[in-house]
Amino acid sequence: MQQWWEVPGHLEVKGGDLHIEGYLAHKIVDDLYPLHMGERVLFVYSTPWLRQNARDAKRELEGADVFYAGKALELPELVRAAGEEGLGFDAVSPVEVELALKMGIRPENVLMTYEASELGMAYAASKGVPINMNSKGQLRDFYRLVAGHPEFRGAEVMLRRGSAQEGAGWIDDNTTIGADCKFGIREEDIVREALAAKNNGLDVAGFHHHIGSGYGPESADVFLRHARRLAELTAEAIDSGVDTIDRIDYGGGFGVRYRGEQAFLELGDLHRRAMDMQRGVLHDRRMRAMYEPGRRIANCGVMLMRVVRTGEEYIPFIRMNAGFPDFPRPAMYGAYQHIVPVIDTLREPGREVQIAGRICESGDVWTGGKHAKRPMPDVKKGEWLALLNISYGSAMRMRDYCQFPPPLDIIADGSGWHTAEPVERHVNREHPEYFDALRD
Ligand SMILES: Cc1ncc(COP(=O)(O)O)c(C=O)c1O
Repeated sequence: MQQWWEVPGHLEVKGGDLHIEGYLAHKIVDDLYPLHMGERVLFVYSTPWLRQNARDAKRELEGADVFYAGKALELPELVRAAGEEGLGFDAVSPVEVELALKMGIRPENVLMTYEASELGMAYAASKGVPINMNSKGQLRDFYRLVAGHPEFRGAEVMLRRGSAQEGAGWIDDNTTIGADCKFGIREEDIVREALAAKNNGLDVAGFHHHIGSGYGPESADVFLRHARRLAELTAEAIDSGVDTIDRIDYGGGFGVRYRGEQAFLELGDLHRRAMDMQRGVLHDRRMRAMYEPGRRIANCGVMLMRVVRTGEEYIPFIRMNAGFPDFPRPAMYGAYQHIVPVIDTLREPGREVQIAGRICESGDVWTGGKHAKRPMPDVKKGEWLALLNISYGSAMRMRDYCQFPPPLDIIADGSGWHTAEPVERHVNREHPEYFDALRD
């Protein structure tokens, strides 16, 4: 019987053992063993799986522009594959912009949501990459930049809508719209700001919002309520004379399944309802719709970690060679990540144990918080376990904490597997291109 987490062709139990992209997971570990003697944690990603996620999203969000939110995972080969599948790229830093462009994504298919420096904005504008403006202050900074650099006149911008209405995330900290949220322009001001941006010589392409990350079907109505408001503000701005607007960006945040019992948000129906609403609000105006899914696309791999000890002191435990610096999500958010043995994967779970990391921090617990235990099969020292759903895995990694050897990123591409190209092969992060954006 297929497990809820299996993905045919990409993540399967065959002959009782875990396979990734057709390879026995344990074989990948064995082949690498002489290299790292079991010390290093492995992330195994599959390009064909990511491509399938991209195609599924494009099919379900038919007619819309799908921009991959690269923060969810940005190994160069995966970004390139997303671009080849026709996805644009949603960037949060100028270095992400540089990477996306180098991976062949066209500037008009990149959007940069970043306000921390004028250099960053100058870089995006010089490359023809639209900038998503988080705040009124950012717009003012940009007007000053354009005043001193006429070559940036006509730069394409989007304006990020804030709202006092609560958004939707899988937890409160991942809800990104609402009165306490840090980004976004107040909605009673946004039309006036768009007009001012036009009068300051900018090309206002439209409005954007992002209501949160990782939400499920229970938040469909919240999504649609916000989407309607975004469309109404768009219509209002056009009627006020912002005639350059040609798109609406509804953000990302579509949840993936982390647990068997979790309901899954189907995108096709949600999108159809959003487009019916958009047509109703905007009448005969043709308008591009954009989405920015991250984890839905990036959910294409597993993290493999080794059992270093099992036992019981005050609490029964399994201790791993991986800790939260390798993948902070469970320790940071108390997030549930499913964990299965790599060999004899379907062994019956037994008693409840704490699955802990190797760091001297009590919160370094894979089961999500120091009090969290879960039923696990009886595993042995030296076995490898797979942590599933690793979008945001390598992307959130802490590089220097406790100076452990960094995890090894492996890509399975359908014809074999290899060590992933590091970002550094394409981008010099100590001196990225944008540092020179304002040099004559
Ligand atoms: C502006 C923006 N767009 C898209 C995303 C992607 O969210 P998710 O990976 O949940 O789809 C995020 C995530 O935080 C975001 O901040």
